Amino acid sequence: MTVWHDTVGKWRRDHGAVWVDEPGYRPFLALLKHHDVFEVSREGYKWNNTARAVLGPDAQYDEMEASGMPLPASLVQLDGIKHRDHRQVTNDWFKPASVGKRQPRIDELAERYVDRMRELGGECDFAKDIAQPYTLRVIMDIYGVPEEDEPLMMDLTQGIFGAADPEFLGDAADPQARVFASVMNFIQYFNGMTEDRRACPQDDLASVIANGEINGCPLGDVERLWYYIIVATAGHDTTSFALSGGLEALLANPDQLAKLQANHELINNATEEFIRWTTPVRHFMRFATEDTVIAGEEVPAGGAVLLSYPSANRDEDVFVDPGRFDIERGDLEKLMSFGVGNHFCLGAQFARREIRTFLAKLLPQLTSIESVGDAQWAQSHFVSGVKHLPIRYEFA
Ligand code: HEM
Repeated sequence: MTVWHDTVGKWRRDHGAVWVDEPGYRPFLALLKHHDVFEVSREGYKWNNTARAVLGPDAQYDEMEASGMPLPASLVQLDGIKHRDHRQVTNDWFKPASVGKRQPRIDELAERYVDRMRELGGECDFAKDIAQPYTLRVIMDIYGVPEEDEPLMMDLTQGIFGAADPEFLGDAADPQARVFASVMNFIQYFNGMTEDRRACPQDDLASVIANGEINGCPLGDVERLWYYIIVATAGHDTTSFALSGGLEALLANPDQLAKLQANHELINNATEEFIRWTTPVRHFMRFATEDTVIAGEEVPAGGAVLLSYPSANRDEDVFVDPGRFDIERGDLEKLMSFGVGNHFCLGAQFARREIRTFLAKLLPQLTSIESVGDAQWAQSHFVSGVKHLPIRYEFA
């Protein structure tokens, strides 16, 4: 990521935004400044997300359409009133008070994974052994997906977010085939879940989605399916990358680790810095609803812009010395990792609580922790971060 930040940082300082015109992709304007990412995200009426909200080769979307597979229609792909109404279906579940009620369960799961570190005997791959399964369990727990189905959920998520990484390609011939197969498997799994929760609703998010209504009518089949998929996928890889990448940064900056160990009241601020530093969601696309000008560039109606969250989070006009990992940073209210406006991350409260809680459970028990090998990053231009983090540690 250092090379990426060096290159993109220079473009940001020199140009603010750059046009990208690569074979196989529609040309788009990459917005690199915090101010421009903020403006486009806030002015939802001027910009649409559409089914192509995630950057992909045109051929992939064309093939998806031709194959009859339902085009992506989760919250991040919906616009206007349709988006507002669909978000409303689960909104209450993600409000601070509702999320707060889940704190005892998050405590329990965080303790379970700190215990797991103990059981592993002083060495582990923190990303794979701890951060991934912990964040997955928290979301699946509120979802109502039983623990035995977690490996399937993890595999399908990696099939959608991480298809470009050879480690997550599985038996598929290419990344595109992997994405299609994952979506098809999700359809099968969640159709079964809908039947079950309609027959027998429970106190879980799956029941809310299965029985969700808009203006007295059930959610459409395609929208319901994509609702399941976004919540099942967006909720854990993102948070897991923030936790493992944040720990990697702490270990690379022993002064910061020492400060945090000396004062656990810094955990909340450190969590925000983890989320800024790692920025696990790399982009979303927006499409102009009318001819417009952004970052001094003309974008015609239908033209595309890419919101670069990692670049916005390193904008030197907004963050003091943005390339420094600093858990005492005082400018984190400008954090761009969760987006802004109508599509602001629904799960931000969960993500924050999961990371804070884990640190609060782990740090008081640790007497030492160090990295014992190179961290490895997942290859993806959409959701990415540290996928392997070998560490050694001692408990009190
Ligand atoms: C550190 C962890 C996370 C990061 C960095 C993150 C980031 C984002 C970003 C950038 C967006 C789009 C915002 C925009 O377009 O303005 C988003 C949307 C969303 N996120 Fe997260 N997210 C995280 C965790 C979660 C969790 C735990 C959930 C819980 C289930 C979740 C569910 C969603 C959903 C449902 C949306 C779509 C909202 C909409 O379009 O209305 N995310 N997230």
